[in-house]
Amino acid sequence: MLTYEQTKELLKEQQQEQLLQYYDQLNEQEKEVLLRQISNLDFSLLDLLGEESGGERGKLEPLGAVTIDEIKERRDEFYAAGVTAIQQGKVGAVLLAGGQGTRLGYDGPKGTCDIGVTHPLYIFEMLIRNLMQVKNACDAWIPLLIMTSDKNNDATVAFFKEHKFFGYNPEYVFFFEQEMAPSVSYEGKIYLEEKGKVSMSPNGNGGWFGSMQKAGVLDKAKALGVEWLNVFAVDNVLQKMADPVFVGATLQSGCACGAKVVSKADPNERVGVLCLEDGRPSIVEYYEMTDEIINSREPDGRLSYNYGVILNYLFRVDALEAIAGKRMPTHVVEKKIPHLDDNGNLVKPESPNGYKFETLVLDMIHMMPDCLSFEVDREKEFAPIKNKTGVDSIESARALLEKNGITL
Ligand code: UTP
Repeated sequence: MLTYEQTKELLKEQQQEQLLQYYDQLNEQEKEVLLRQISNLDFSLLDLLGEESGGERGKLEPLGAVTIDEIKERRDEFYAAGVTAIQQGKVGAVLLAGGQGTRLGYDGPKGTCDIGVTHPLYIFEMLIRNLMQVKNACDAWIPLLIMTSDKNNDATVAFFKEHKFFGYNPEYVFFFEQEMAPSVSYEGKIYLEEKGKVSMSPNGNGGWFGSMQKAGVLDKAKALGVEWLNVFAVDNVLQKMADPVFVGATLQSGCACGAKVVSKADPNERVGVLCLEDGRPSIVEYYEMTDEIINSREPDGRLSYNYGVILNYLFRVDALEAIAGKRMPTHVVEKKIPHLDDNGNLVKPESPNGYKFETLVLDMIHMMPDCLSFEVDREKEFAPIKNKTGVDSIESARALLEKNGITL
């Protein structure tokens, strides 16, 4: 750990002297905590500010999907293969719940948000209910690995305990925490969240595998026989985890991973599209595509770049181990960041006021040799809760849940 003098020197070099702004007001213990935190900061992240995020894209080509109609035809075969794999304990489910859900603005882990109308229905409860259906169909518990962050771990664990894991077997539930990164103002100054605490945020969902390894949770899953990991977001309440049909199709495809995709609602829909980039699978954001690419069509009239991802991926564990430790792109993302102002008062901004640094699980797809693109019906499997109102809100998710026969 650096001494006060060394820290001062370092911060001067990095033009981040504001971090010691309230140092004199701290007690000895708080001073030590702050110096340790600063000693551990990765200042190289600041070099990314002002750079074009993502850099140049390679040569893009369309990647077809196994379509809903094809899946219907081969459903029994895929289902049987998936059920067998699940019964053999080969499939683990990874719930990414380390995000802060700043757009929703809910106070607490997003999964603890009650979306019920006439009775409580928590997001976590809905997800567990969906996973329980697979458990019942296969008569086998699926290991559930839940990623949290320093910000929400205690609240998440306590919530699951309080609700008795919504009936899931706690012996098959494993929590692990992700890594954090500093948050900065638009001017590139690292924020303080307390007088003796640097503002740190979860560093994106891309580090899940490394964090799981570090926490020893991967070893636990492997000891249970897990060879495949199904990764998904907390906020899609129609999410099907460890879906036997998807598992079976991916296993039979021989690919290192699979991705659930939905047909784009229109060419300009703002989703990441699964395609090929320099011959490897890749997810390219709508704003990274030219109009020509966005509007190009196949001979049958379908959009060439038609399949949007919904953050539901299945990875073979040995393929993940082969890329573990490789550097992933870091994205600089605009967010609302609570912080101390120059008078030492806490500010909770209503609109974005700076950047966080994140790696993203979708970038892992490009690190895989191949990927099965598996089309699902968005009305049945995609009800994300991102925003307070309007598109992808609690309201829109409720409407989709009701359409699927769920009493709210
Ligand atoms: P989002 O991209 O919606 O990010 O996460 P977010 O940070 O939760 O929400 P906003 O942008 O601030 O409103 C997609 C999924 O990845 C998880 C989230 O919990 C969600 O399930 N995630 C995101 C993490 O696990 N860790 C992170 O650092 C970020």
